[in-house]
Amino acid sequence: MVSRDRRITSVARSVRLVPTLRAASMFACALVLGACGGGVHGTPGGSGVRDPYFPKAGNDGYDVTHYGLRLAYDPGAEHLTGTATLTARAEKDLSAFNLDLVGMEVEQVTVGGEIARWNRAGQELTVRPRGDIDRDETFRVSVRYSGTPETVTDPDGSREGWLRTTDGVLALGEPTGSMAWFPGNHHPSDKAAYDIAVTVPKGLRAVSNGELRGERTARGRTTFVWHSGQPMASYLATLAIGRFDISRSRAGELPLYTAVDPAEAAASRPVLARIPEVLRWSERRFGPYPFSATGAIVDSAALVGYALETQTRPVFPGAPDLPLLVHEFAHQWYGDSVTPESWRDMWLNEGFATYAEWLWDEDHGGDSAQETFDAVYSGAHFDTEEAAKEIWEFPPADPPSAGQLSDPPVYWRGAMVLQKVRQVVGDDRFFAILRGWAAGHRHGNADTADFTAYVEQQAPGKDLEAVWDEWLYGEGKPERP
Ligand code: TRP
Ligand code: ZN
Repeated sequence: MVSRDRRITSVARSVRLVPTLRAASMFACALVLGACGGGVHGTPGGSGVRDPYFPKAGNDGYDVTHYGLRLAYDPGAEHLTGTATLTARAEKDLSAFNLDLVGMEVEQVTVGGEIARWNRAGQELTVRPRGDIDRDETFRVSVRYSGTPETVTDPDGSREGWLRTTDGVLALGEPTGSMAWFPGNHHPSDKAAYDIAVTVPKGLRAVSNGELRGERTARGRTTFVWHSGQPMASYLATLAIGRFDISRSRAGELPLYTAVDPAEAAASRPVLARIPEVLRWSERRFGPYPFSATGAIVDSAALVGYALETQTRPVFPGAPDLPLLVHEFAHQWYGDSVTPESWRDMWLNEGFATYAEWLWDEDHGGDSAQETFDAVYSGAHFDTEEAAKEIWEFPPADPPSAGQLSDPPVYWRGAMVLQKVRQVVGDDRFFAILRGWAAGHRHGNADTADFTAYVEQQAPGKDLEAVWDEWLYGEGKPERP
């Protein structure tokens, strides 16, 4: 445990008013030396979940099951006021716990309706409830906060968090930007349901994930209420505020809601019209769509040079082309429903979504995935020698640093790993593996070892050792394609 936690433990002891004494906790105390005394049976939750790239992201000691966000934004003043109410289950006896939040001003924190003490250090908001929280107890923490959320610059130089657009803002959170606009357990390993209500001046719209449950205008302001019933990692939460052309329809049974910046409307229309077709094809290849709503957000954010697979409603920083649409929709299965256990497993997102583009081509009269693989291997697929070489810089399952999580090896070599698996196991087993992987970890988390073990189990007698050693974990360009 880091020293900051120890300090909080001792502070928690000195402010304890009503000691909670139970036989079981006394027993736990006897085991956890140094954490006991003054009747305290809980210990502080950790300030991170030891992600290899973002050690302070997320917090340990509890599991969030639901986020209720009530937000109001004034675009003129660039001022956000919010109340975040988290429902969580304690995974151990807790005397204190952390949330992640960068910037903003915290005004009040309550736990179970009672005012709690709190302090801040960097991205850690440490909350000390009046009484300890027992292991397995479900508790509710509410944080009232306000301010102008920050734009976060990633280790790779890209921008996320709270981003100004031509007519409002756009919130994006991969990998850590969501802590700029709401406090939470900001690591992909803790997924939760969300209800997000956002009030904006009349005439503007607030678009987020999931189903639109309400839209009410009163006294010159409109509140939009969004519901995400299926578990979502916080990096996949989004919020777009601005002027949008809205289209509401259905893709099969699914409510389909698209919001498009008027400046991008004409260019977006033909490709967004293909969402139902992309969904039907994806379901055939990957299995049932994992969520109860779909759509897209097309915004004009000069600061954002990438699309993001925000859950149920991917964000595009301008009109997408078809391959990008296919890519972001494939992420709904690979990334959003089956979410990486840590940021090291990023290739499970990007390798699969890139492979989906290859497969789309194969199924629509273009190059086969094997042909694409060959062209990527030879370098013919790329415009420059530099781009052809870049993909061999590191193994997809082991990016050297946080600044390289979205680099070409994660995408291209990640997809190549899947083609290598296909070569070894054959088409029928391979397509069953794509579907089975999505089904087996639906709405959950998985890591690279889970994937290799699953493939081995699905392909008894097949030798995959070389695929893992050379393509997934190996340095440099494998000698044979
Ligand atoms: N994950 C996004 C996608 O592939 C892309 C992305 C998000 C990205 N953040 C990034 C790419 C930062 C480069 C840099 O759909
Ligand atoms: Zn992607």
